Amino acid sequence: MNILVTGGAGFIGSHLVDALVREGHHVTVIDNLSTGTREFLNPKAEFIETDIRTAKLADIFHAHHFDVVYHEAAQTMVPVSIDNPHFDADENVMGLLSVLEASRKTGVRKVIFSSSAAIYGDNPALPLKEDEIPDPTSFYGLTKWITERYLALYHKLYGLHYTVLRYSNVYGPRQGAHGEGGVIYIFAKALAEGRDITIFGDGGQTRDFISVHDVVSANLAALSKGNEETCNVSTKTEISLNDLAHEMVRLAGRDESVIHYGPERTGDIYRSSLDNDRAYKILGWKPAYTLADGLKDTIEFFRNRE
Ligand SMILES: NC(=O)c1ccc[n+]([C@@H]2O[C@H](COP(=O)([O-])OP(=O)(O)OC[C@H]3O[C@@H](n4cnc5c(N)ncnc54)[C@H](O)[C@@H]3O)[C@@H](O)[C@H]2O)c1
Repeated sequence: MNILVTGGAGFIGSHLVDALVREGHHVTVIDNLSTGTREFLNPKAEFIETDIRTAKLADIFHAHHFDVVYHEAAQTMVPVSIDNPHFDADENVMGLLSVLEASRKTGVRKVIFSSSAAIYGDNPALPLKEDEIPDPTSFYGLTKWITERYLALYHKLYGLHYTVLRYSNVYGPRQGAHGEGGVIYIFAKALAEGRDITIFGDGGQTRDFISVHDVVSANLAALSKGNEETCNVSTKTEISLNDLAHEMVRLAGRDESVIHYGPERTGDIYRSSLDNDRAYKILGWKPAYTLADGLKDTIEFFRNRE
């Protein structure tokens, strides 16, 4: 298939591009390298270095005739969205509209979108199912939710197919400090460099950490399944930041005295876990990586980069 990955130089996008290339697809990446990394780009993919909001986007789509678009490019930082809602909306809503307009005008069959647990807000009905009413606590969560609604309306108006994948907190090699699974990056990097780590808040916050390799396999499944469906991509288990920190300190062979505490961050959800039964039913997907395996892989990656 002829596939576009927006944000294909980023953490998740670059792993997805590698997998699509391995599967024999013709892959194009559009990325402005704002948080992406050139060295993560797969050399077998065509790379177009530009912003998805460029006036030339429709020309690029016309020249390529993409069958499917994976839309990964976004402003991904909750605190940035709180400090600068204009910037967040410009990237995540106006950027999306550029992609959707170019898609519908050039016969793209399907858009597969990276949504987020952030749309649910601080809802205590864990693990959260897809039919919970969204109630974001950050502008980032709000722009992700709006995107989902745009996709549904583009399907209604123009027949453009879509699948929404709501990721929990993604972690793994190549991740940066900025994204939602960023705490694992921050801890892994600090431990690899022999520094101490800081937990913001009391450490009782929980997250549902999903390996980037599992996120990629869910995206691959969505190529042929899940039209007009919304599925969580998660492990359906909660781990507290305290437990995570202790496990990572142990795997890194460090002493627990390296763990410190700092002030809570605005806009952060306290507890988070997503049900993943629907992804199994609709996409035939379930996670294959345990946290222990994934953490070893991630710590190793950052050790090797030092
Ligand atoms: N990492 C997570 O835990 C997580 C969780 C839920 C959802 N997501 C979503 O998954 C997607 C990928 O996230 P990631 O963690 O890989 O982040 P990332 O920052 O590593 O990747 C985003 C990529 O998009 C590019 N980009 C950003 N704005 C752009 C623009 N205007 N034009 C062109 N390129 C642009 C960046 O340079 C980067 O390469 C995002 O949509 C994010 O919201 C991530």
